[in-house]
Amino acid sequence: MNRIFVRFIGPVFLSIAFAGALVYGVITLLFGEPIKENAARQAAPQIFLLEQYIDKAPGDEWLQRLNKVREVSQVKFDLIPLRTALLQLDDKQRAILMDGAVVIDVPGRAFYRRVDLTGYRYVDSENDVLYAQDLPIDRWQFLKIEMLRYVLVALVLLVPLAFWSRTHWREVQALARVTEKFGDGELAARANTPSSSSVFPLSVQINQMAERISQLLTSQKQLLHAVSHELRTPIARLEFALEILQDSGVEPKNRQRIDAMRGDLYELNSLVSELLNLAKMEQQHELQLQSFSAQMFVQNCVDSLPPMRSEVQLATVLDSSAMSLIGDQRLVTRATQNLLKNAMKYAATQIIFSVNESKNGYVITVEDDGIGVPEEEREKIFEAFHRLDRSRDRNTGGFGLGLSIVRQIVQMHHGSVEVDTATIGGARFRLYFPH
Ligand SMILES: Nc1ncnc2c1ncn2[C@@H]1O[C@H](COP(=O)(O)OP(=O)(O)O)[C@@H](O)[C@H]1O
Ligand SMILES: [Mg+2]
Repeated sequence: MNRIFVRFIGPVFLSIAFAGALVYGVITLLFGEPIKENAARQAAPQIFLLEQYIDKAPGDEWLQRLNKVREVSQVKFDLIPLRTALLQLDDKQRAILMDGAVVIDVPGRAFYRRVDLTGYRYVDSENDVLYAQDLPIDRWQFLKIEMLRYVLVALVLLVPLAFWSRTHWREVQALARVTEKFGDGELAARANTPSSSSVFPLSVQINQMAERISQLLTSQKQLLHAVSHELRTPIARLEFALEILQDSGVEPKNRQRIDAMRGDLYELNSLVSELLNLAKMEQQHELQLQSFSAQMFVQNCVDSLPPMRSEVQLATVLDSSAMSLIGDQRLVTRATQNLLKNAMKYAATQIIFSVNESKNGYVITVEDDGIGVPEEEREKIFEAFHRLDRSRDRNTGGFGLGLSIVRQIVQMHHGSVEVDTATIGGARFRLYFPH
């Protein structure tokens, strides 16, 4: 069952109920109340019996006829004083009764009628009323039949609605899948809804939007790449020039300035290399998937780290030494090292680096006991150039590209990355790689 259909069921039943009430109201207005009509029909045989058999008796035999009927009939015929009867009726009914006609009491399953108007059937008969009870009136039967009618109409109506909404639902779901894929970074995802579909215009717009976004992203990446590339030559020239300047006997005062300039240039240079790395990563679509030993991988990652601050301890935990991982080894190592380098900057005393089997792949965890990442920043730190502005972050240096490279690598592997709080207090980064 789809959501569109479920949302339809309620309104359909409500409007059918409303239609039922409306039909009943209009019919009552035009032709009198159907429940009463129905009751009158159900009471008709008894009234017929009264008018065509009992009333047809010659004047003084009326009571005898009535008694004969009483003996065989299921219906209770009582004679009650006119005054009592009037008390049980409303104004309209009283008027009808006084005219000598039959008054039907639907809820009481009874009818009233005066014996006669002039007293010719027996002494004082004009002051008596024939009160027939236990008539075979069933006012619910009528309502039940009516309700059944409308429920059947509603059910039959729902069949075409279900078919109609199912097609829509499927098409909408297909579109949702496309936008989801696109959002997950699969920029080539496009909707191919048939032109006969009612969501075709929407799918065309989604495709156009996707086309435009991927064009923008591509040109932005190309620009970044080109600019970084172009920066390399002037940087190299500047480095060269500074080198020469330093060698050509400058005053000590200027020497200091030149040193500062070289520092800045070094920083600029590393930014450009990082940017080129990122651009290369983004342009690389082919992964070199291979199976490699987890133990070797852990060793590699640890070995190529820069020297650690003396107070920081790195512990490695491996699920099983025989475990093997699947992925582009160079890239997985790179992502892990980015996490380890961050942890080295932020850890107070401890870093735990572990590799575990997960439900359908493996998970690489790097946690530290540093200041951690505040909850509201956990999405943003993966964006390029996003760095938190705490004093600790300012002291650590870097351009905020490390984690965006991590995310890029994980996405290329169709995996995911998460950050939360470590059991030892700081940040815990987890990389999930599916097999
Ligand atoms: N282990 C960590 N503990 C606390 N904050 C971290 C940690 N790792 C990353 N961050 C935060 O995320 C930001 C982005 O990290 P990253 O992309 O590696 O850039 P960079 O290391 O160049 O600052 C960092 O500036 C820092 O604020
Ligand atoms: Mg970093």
